[in-house]
Amino acid sequence: MNAVPSSIESVLVENRVFPPPPQAVQGARIGSMAAYQQLVDEARADPDAFWARLARENLAWTKPFSKTLDESKAPFFEWFADGELNASANCLDRHMGTPVEHKTAIVFESDDGKVTRLTYRELLTRVARFANALKAQGIQKGDRVVLYMPMGIEGVVAMQACARLGATHSVVFGGFSAKALQERIVDVGAVAVITANFQMRGGKELPLKAIVDEALAMGGCEAVKTVLVYERTASAWPRVEGRDKTFAEALQGVSDDCPPVPVGAEHPLFILYTSGSTGKPKGVQHATGGYLLWAKLTMDWTFDLRPEDVFWCTADIGWITGHSYVAYGPLAAGATQLVFEGVPTFPDAGRFWKMIQDHKVSIFYTAPTAIRSLIKAAEADGKVHPDRYDLTSLRLLGSVGEPINPEAWMWFHRHIGGERCPIVDTFWQTETGGHVITPLPGATPLVPGSCTLPLPGIDAAIVDETGNEMPNGAGGMLVIRRPWPSMIRTIWNDPERFKKSYFPPELGGSVYLAGDGAVRSADRGYFRITGRIDDVLNVSGHRMGTMEIESALVSKTDLVAEAAVVGRPDDMTGEAICAFVVLKRARPTGDEAKAIAKELRDWVAREIGPIAKPRDIRFGENLPKTRSGKIMRRLLRSIAKGEAITQDTSTLENPQILAQLGEAY
Ligand code: WTA
Repeated sequence: MNAVPSSIESVLVENRVFPPPPQAVQGARIGSMAAYQQLVDEARADPDAFWARLARENLAWTKPFSKTLDESKAPFFEWFADGELNASANCLDRHMGTPVEHKTAIVFESDDGKVTRLTYRELLTRVARFANALKAQGIQKGDRVVLYMPMGIEGVVAMQACARLGATHSVVFGGFSAKALQERIVDVGAVAVITANFQMRGGKELPLKAIVDEALAMGGCEAVKTVLVYERTASAWPRVEGRDKTFAEALQGVSDDCPPVPVGAEHPLFILYTSGSTGKPKGVQHATGGYLLWAKLTMDWTFDLRPEDVFWCTADIGWITGHSYVAYGPLAAGATQLVFEGVPTFPDAGRFWKMIQDHKVSIFYTAPTAIRSLIKAAEADGKVHPDRYDLTSLRLLGSVGEPINPEAWMWFHRHIGGERCPIVDTFWQTETGGHVITPLPGATPLVPGSCTLPLPGIDAAIVDETGNEMPNGAGGMLVIRRPWPSMIRTIWNDPERFKKSYFPPELGGSVYLAGDGAVRSADRGYFRITGRIDDVLNVSGHRMGTMEIESALVSKTDLVAEAAVVGRPDDMTGEAICAFVVLKRARPTGDEAKAIAKELRDWVAREIGPIAKPRDIRFGENLPKTRSGKIMRRLLRSIAKGEAITQDTSTLENPQILAQLGEAY
């Protein structure tokens, strides 16, 4: 790689290219651009034959499928619909009697550094026993089960156990509030909740079970008959007799054997809520067959998984990345993976580097926000600098969740990857089920900040509002023109919203609209994601709807008359949340404004979760509106950034409030 200039500053021009290093090419499944192109061509020539071949090669079917793709109900596409399989059997039983049976499946490191190891055989027994415990509670195929769990083996076991019975899980991230949890429990119609008494994060014990109780008490959750509680810590927790059981109680006397229940390929494996452009989160429904195929396939394609790898994806199981690249993909692929309970900064910001060193991690997959905050920590304190750790076990790095800026990419490449590991910048979404645009480590020359090219079979393009493809170099909306197996099947309880959000009639009704802007490079046609084009923010890699936060703010009816939320760029978190608020009382200033801002932040944390707390709150007597009463968000975005207003404000009803909203307190 001597063609690569060494100064970090020059990466800002983004014209450097990092060819795959020889050790990544050697033995790679896709070891050249020609090999990649061959798969792309195969998929293009006969997509059905291509996907059918991969589905047969990669999954174990209890009943083979006869039809690959059914487009008759488009955009409600169905894949492998008459085939039957079980996701858990594909992740566990399938490895029995192979060398994977006694291989380590999970190395778990707890918040306080305790390490637990499980082989595939042991994990299967754990999952079978837990599935039997669920069965004993009356949970069966088609039921929905909500998980509100810490990161750990128990969470993965619970997801796999649901899948084993054909129960559909819906994992709610442990940082969401009681209110957010209740909304999801109600919408999904859960019959049971699986939780822990507490979770440990950064040495602190945080309640989970108490939040479940609060959520269930809010009403609408009468269908929940069972709450299973993993006793993560020794601390006491309030028990509701008849409804609550500890894991130990539920597992008492159950058999080690639980035959997996075959389900149709389209059977919903899980429903995961994510933010959209309205106030209500969307229950993204994924199917069993297509989703699992993708989770397995991308382990092989994107990470080029080798038998000796130690894979570490740092995502929480509460997000899609933790579904595809912790709970399903690595297990379907027979990988050894590291699962981590804690946070990257505890006991110090060298934790990730120490864990890579201790567990000889070879593939490290994390988010740009984590990288940026660890760069800052390493620069501030040499003791936690990655250069002090032995990271030579690494062979591949991955990034996910938000655009990675070239400076962070270079630091990751140099200090973590030792200039030897390719970085796969994987673009995908909750809705896509797995990677859709990503480099392949043994084939794709890398350009910092670019997710490069679509995977074989993914017909990604950049179009304008009417669906015309944009030339390279010109930005537009990212779409995927042909269905792919792991695509979202519907929005739970809201098929109309599914059609409207993702398959707008202006684009013909069967083209998937990702909701991101993108541009392809003039020279290579590489994709670069420029950010969301809808009212969705990406804060530290977490998706958040502006309307969701607005609804939370205006639900404080004693105080708030009106609110508008926008994002502004932030060096550390990607975007920061800025709220513009009109109160039902006089506009506050100084200390009063500070106190009310705090009250509102705490309110949003209660309504949604701490991750949704606005960074900036500005108060005005009104919001900038057109004469027809529409809030002019582009002006708010400029104010949030601290920019001078250069836009035309002649249509504005009340121009004087712009200055007010720009004022700090
Ligand atoms: C953003 C996370 C740039 C994008 C897997 C997308 C990215 C949203 C990348 C989905 C990337 C994800 N480069 N942007 N490599 N990966 N995004 O549903 O805006 O939590 O629409 O899925 O994250 O977020 P979600």
